[in-house]
Amino acid sequence: MTQERFVLVVDDDLEMAHCVAEILETEKCRCETAVSGSDALLSCRENDFDVVVSDVRMAEMDGIELMTRLKHLQSDLPVILMTAEGSIPAAIDAVKRGAFQYITKPVAARELRRLVDQAVTARASVEPPPSSKRAFGHTAARATGAATYAAPRGTEELIGESLAMRELRARIELVGSATSPVLIVGETGTGKELVARAIHACSARASKPFVTVNAAAIPETLLESEMFGHVRGAFTGAFQTHRGLLAEADGGTLLLDEIGDMPLGLQAKLLRVLQSGEIRAVGGDRIQKVDVRIVAATHRRLPELVREGRFRDDLYYRLNVINIAVPPLRSRVSDIPDLAARFLALGLERAPASRVRSISPELLDLLRHGAWPGNVRELQSTIERLVVLALTTQLEPRHLALVDDELKPVTGAPVTRPLGEELCCIDDLVRRHVEAVLVHTDGNKARAAKILGIDLSTLYRWQQKWQP
Ligand SMILES: Nc1ncnc2c1ncn2[C@@H]1O[C@H](COP(=O)(O)OP(=O)(O)OP(=O)(O)O)[C@@H](O)[C@H]1O
Ligand SMILES: [Mg+2]
Repeated sequence: MTQERFVLVVDDDLEMAHCVAEILETEKCRCETAVSGSDALLSCRENDFDVVVSDVRMAEMDGIELMTRLKHLQSDLPVILMTAEGSIPAAIDAVKRGAFQYITKPVAARELRRLVDQAVTARASVEPPPSSKRAFGHTAARATGAATYAAPRGTEELIGESLAMRELRARIELVGSATSPVLIVGETGTGKELVARAIHACSARASKPFVTVNAAAIPETLLESEMFGHVRGAFTGAFQTHRGLLAEADGGTLLLDEIGDMPLGLQAKLLRVLQSGEIRAVGGDRIQKVDVRIVAATHRRLPELVREGRFRDDLYYRLNVINIAVPPLRSRVSDIPDLAARFLALGLERAPASRVRSISPELLDLLRHGAWPGNVRELQSTIERLVVLALTTQLEPRHLALVDDELKPVTGAPVTRPLGEELCCIDDLVRRHVEAVLVHTDGNKARAAKILGIDLSTLYRWQQKWQP
């Protein structure tokens, strides 16, 4: 007896989606509909579909992009594309790139049912890959609410349940199973190094070394010998033979941090390693083969550096085989409460004498409005500082003033404002809160200072500072 099928039908024309669902629905086949690509992605995270049937031409995200993104999430999920005459070439191309099949519109009922049958049978005949959503129990945990979300092995350190973070985790797991180079990009403090570690931990290399080298922190000559090693007497001061980090990472992963800062000369040598897997120590003549997975990270925009001639384009293309973009914190504010809770616990480990035990909802709300140009790292140091400096059991908005002066945005990362969202630096967050309290007290400063838990003189000082 065949098992019941579960099909997702995607079309931005709701009537059309229902019409297709009706064709497919029998006692053996259940359908769900989605009216956009993002709707479909969400639905696929919550449900365990057997097949996705999607229109190609859709306004916000077309069916082909949806197919590509679904493949990142769950590579074995078959996607059938519905296409009008005009988009047939694109649909054929999509089939070459992983779509199960395409069907032309108007959809013939029997043909569509046959394709769905074929897709289900084909899928059942292959083992689900380890990257499959089924493999890490996501659906079960979400649908039943019985268990907590079981993160894929190796990504547990990465906190956050926003869609962006869940997608990032799924991608890390997918990437972990490959050996190609990975380029991780994202603003400072977004968690690029953590992502690199997670990729290593998800991979078959997990038991082998994970080695990091920071190209921005070491002068060029030293960097070369750090990476490739040197033989005794290779240069003044080289008293002993030194095994380079590439050799140390043999069998494992090497994170090339701040790759955008790597000098051009060394970039050429790195390219050779990527092409041949061969290294030669400085001053040495022996060629050694290494098996190292290269993961590079940068907060710089490499295409711009390439245009300016500061980064080799051939190296860029070689590294950019798999690209992972870590989103800025301001674009995933729903992660802030979870992150803040983790950093509170971490802060308490480091400052056991602190009395702080919780964060007030008002403070959390303010934190969610932060611009966080230093991203997760800035949030972490803010919370940890508050844990040390606050004298109460609960962290309140007024405590932000304790870190205000020292934690002015330190980086020049541009802050783009999502529509309708007002983003502020910490100083602005404090100011907003104080102003709200002053409105509440009808401008009575003494009462406001009392509510804020600060001296009246502090309030005057702040107001002076905030004067335009
Ligand atoms: N999703 C996350 N969950 C928990 N901790 C995080 C997360 N993202 C970042 N962190 C923490 O934030 C800090 C900064 O992360 P990390 O060093 O990986 O950032 P980065 O992108 O490499 O920054 P930079 O560009 O400045 O090198 C670390 O302490 C890290 O543990
Ligand atoms: Mg880093």
